[in-house]
Amino acid sequence: MGSGSHSDDAHPGGDIGAGPAGLLLSRLLQLQGIDTVVLENRSREYVEARIRAGILEEHTVQTLVDAGVGDRLQREGLPHDGIYLQYPGVRHHLDFPDLCGRRVWVYGQTEVTRDLITAQLDDGPPLLFGVSDVSPEDVDGDAPRIRFTDADGNPQVLECDAIAGTDGFHGVSRPVVTAGTPGRLWERTYPYAWLGILADVAPSSEELVYAWHPDGFALLSMRSPAVSRLYVQVDPTEKIADWPDERIWEALGTRLGVDGGALQAGPVTEKSILPMRSFVSAPMRRGRLFLAGDAAHIVPPTGAKGLNLAVADVTLLADALVRLLKKHQTDLVDSYSDRALARVWRCTHFSWWMTSMLHRSGDDFDAELQLSQLRRVCRSEAAARELAENYTGLPIDR
Ligand code: FAD
Ligand code: PHB
Repeated sequence: MGSGSHSDDAHPGGDIGAGPAGLLLSRLLQLQGIDTVVLENRSREYVEARIRAGILEEHTVQTLVDAGVGDRLQREGLPHDGIYLQYPGVRHHLDFPDLCGRRVWVYGQTEVTRDLITAQLDDGPPLLFGVSDVSPEDVDGDAPRIRFTDADGNPQVLECDAIAGTDGFHGVSRPVVTAGTPGRLWERTYPYAWLGILADVAPSSEELVYAWHPDGFALLSMRSPAVSRLYVQVDPTEKIADWPDERIWEALGTRLGVDGGALQAGPVTEKSILPMRSFVSAPMRRGRLFLAGDAAHIVPPTGAKGLNLAVADVTLLADALVRLLKKHQTDLVDSYSDRALARVWRCTHFSWWMTSMLHRSGDDFDAELQLSQLRRVCRSEAAARELAENYTGLPIDR
């Protein structure tokens, strides 16, 4: 979101980063008549090929549908009424509609991003790929600007009313916020990582399976009826070269296999190792620069929260910026950081809890505690409901 000083157009906002947070915020503001420019340092091809999250909460689906970018999601997304929790000898189904009246959808972040980019390039405000040297400036006053170099190598300046820092964990926005506001960072790195694969094979379960196993955690997920997404817990120092496909399938088979239900293997089309961390940076605002999504916080993927949290942030931020830019009222921008952080900490706790319950580390004492917690969730409706409410997404406090 932003306006080039070389153009006559008036753009009230500049949006750094074309991940789901930046693209959706731009869309929500466009629907309210607020112009934006989205600046992305990668190419369109790169952004559209990134494989990331796969589970959408109901509020995320509703937000995308309301924003007019949910047609393909409604056609191709897979509604799921629950998940399986597995530990030796047990595969237990949690029925989300029964427990909390909500469900989730399987629809890849890759597809969400493609739908948002298509809408933006069709009839939306400018979306500039391949920019560099992006720098938010003068954010403490009412007329911030973004300096950047465009894809042709020309220096540009966008003069804005507000800037959204939606540039992910490694972006340039968060350092500008932390340099100019008294605040705090919290970080936890976990002593394990996920090795994830995409495979051209029908998923071996109709719903996701989260498995505790003495060898380590494994997750069976999917992208479509013909494409599986699978993860195994590995040491963070592991190299992908040491994991040929046969070794991955063997580990998955051991950890996810159940009596009478072998895991189907198939051609692997993508594989990578993902480090796992929790990270929160507060506040999420400095003057007219607002952070949203991974720019401000990271959760480990076990709770499937990262993308959904980014969507919740921009839902709040869009309301706040509409009020600021159309009505000149500052109440919602002033409370944005605190309201967003309340949800961030709830999701941070849930993701940490799911992660800690399911991954092997420590000694046999830790393992018994984990198994005790898993049995509790599978046997107590109250414990299962707590998981279901968090997994399917608590209501947004608008
Ligand atoms: P991002 O998607 O990171 O988007 C930020 C954008 O900003 C990117 O397009 C980036 O190229 C751009 N950018 C960065 N720096 C600049 C700059 N200086 N100038 C301009 N543009 C810039 N979550 C889950 O729930 N489940 C998962 O399985 C899962 N897997 C993941 C795997 C990986 C490898 C990663 C990195 C994340 C994963 N996540 C997962 C988290 C989830 O994908 C993120 O929470 C989500 O992408 C957040 O969206 P965002 O728009 O805030 O940030
Ligand atoms: C995925 O499909 O990539 C996925 C699903 C659930 C998770 C994490 C990742 O908790």
